Amino acid sequence: MENSRRTFLASISMLAAYSAFPINAFNFGLSKKLRVVLVGTGIRGTSFWGKRLVDEYSDILEFVGLSDINPGRLKYGKEYIGANCPTFIDFDKMLVETKPDLVIVTTMDSTHHEFIIKGLEFGCDVLTEKPLTTNENKAQAILDAERKSNKNLIVGFNYRWSPYNTKIKEIIASGAIGKITSVDFHWYLNTYHGASYFRRWHGIKDKGGSLWVHKSTHHFDLLNWWLDSDPEQVFAYGSLEYYGSNGAFRGDNCRTCEYKTSCDYFYDITKNKRLMDLYVANEKHDGYIRDNCLFRKEIDIYDKMSAQIKYANNVTVNYSLTTYSPFEGWRIAFNGTEGRIEASLDIPYDKKVSINQAEMHAKEMEQNTLEEANSESIIVHKLWNDFDTVEVPFEKGYHGGGDKRLHDKIFKTPNTEDPYERAAGIRDGIMSAIIGIAARKSIESGDPIKIKDLTDIKPMPNRNK
Ligand SMILES: NC(=O)c1ccc[n+]([C@@H]2O[C@H](COP(=O)([O-])OP(=O)(O)OC[C@H]3O[C@@H](n4cnc5c(N)ncnc54)[C@H](O)[C@@H]3O)[C@@H](O)[C@H]2O)c1
Repeated sequence: MENSRRTFLASISMLAAYSAFPINAFNFGLSKKLRVVLVGTGIRGTSFWGKRLVDEYSDILEFVGLSDINPGRLKYGKEYIGANCPTFIDFDKMLVETKPDLVIVTTMDSTHHEFIIKGLEFGCDVLTEKPLTTNENKAQAILDAERKSNKNLIVGFNYRWSPYNTKIKEIIASGAIGKITSVDFHWYLNTYHGASYFRRWHGIKDKGGSLWVHKSTHHFDLLNWWLDSDPEQVFAYGSLEYYGSNGAFRGDNCRTCEYKTSCDYFYDITKNKRLMDLYVANEKHDGYIRDNCLFRKEIDIYDKMSAQIKYANNVTVNYSLTTYSPFEGWRIAFNGTEGRIEASLDIPYDKKVSINQAEMHAKEMEQNTLEEANSESIIVHKLWNDFDTVEVPFEKGYHGGGDKRLHDKIFKTPNTEDPYERAAGIRDGIMSAIIGIAARKSIESGDPIKIKDLTDIKPMPNRNK
């Protein structure tokens, strides 16, 4: 156990090394297991940061407390995770009574800052789910707290860890297409996954920061990491034209809806026992309806989003996010002084095979399904040459294999060298969320937004120099 703990300590130091701010290694003793508390016992908290940690890393860590504002979800979460620890509605009380080493934050996005800051101030290291936060004031408050605390803050950016995304990083870093000058990046959410955001708290700007932040933070983090530069300015368009009040009819929720048989989006949550136990059984405590109507009038996020991002190294990016596509997938193209890289995943027409979109979404939502392996290609087309095809072994489950690699890097094999710098710290968390925050502000104001005006981080042409 001693060894595992040393390994874990080293992992945190390595993660910290890539942050632009000084972060010290963990300072807890080596004689006991890492004491972990988790706040937010929803689907992500109970599965990926809960049950999976207990199942895979119980030799080095133990849950000493779980917290959530919903007492029913908290009770269910404890059973599902398999943790033998007290539960707390009151997060502050949990900190005082359990004195944890590490706080894991998996609550609703707009509340992350509260638990990150309290955790750091209490003297704990903090690991938060993406997005780091939802607006620039909260981002600055997190920055200030982290600088004062001398503790570590890790952001769980799992997409970087998928072999496919890592291969793109490797090809760019090898200089295969010279200096990158521009990027086209388009992400398509299907009518299952895209719609799912409009059923939940994600449909309200104040709760998830809009999909510009909640979802696109993943994509912007990939861009920042692939390009190895900071965003400098963002201009965006966006509107709500399909979901929300655009629907011709609406109900209270799918279960009770009179349009069950005629609505294309009818979603039968009663068929999923885990979701019934986690959400429906606990609606009475807080009114959180998991199968809410995606045409309800209170929805105020965008369902069509398009942005131009100028990077400090002068790369320009055209980005878009679509939320009602017939398929789920994405495309990216990097133009460079010596050629072009094209990459895409799950575009059904590319492979001339049909993909069952409902099944694909169910797997992603379950968050603990088995993986399927196959291979996906990346095109590298050097100027004046025929194109090359690079085949990458690919995994479908666990966010393209990224989820488990992120865990292993933190808890199991931290000493293995990572030339691709996939570990993400506070600076990465802010620089990805801030692009979405800027995009939102640009839509509201009609003006381009300068990143340097949002927090005291100044964009750098090269992130690590
Ligand atoms: N990296 C990924 O791929 C990935 C995937 C899914 C979710 N996430 C992130 O994980 C987080 C949780 O998402 P989810 O899908 O599990 O949501 P969820 O709605 O299932 O769970 C959120 C939980 O937080 C609790 N909560 C809300 N406000 C709270 C507060 N003030 N204090 C204490 N508890 C509070 C809710 O009661 C709920 O149990 C989000 O930040 C989301 O962005 C990341």
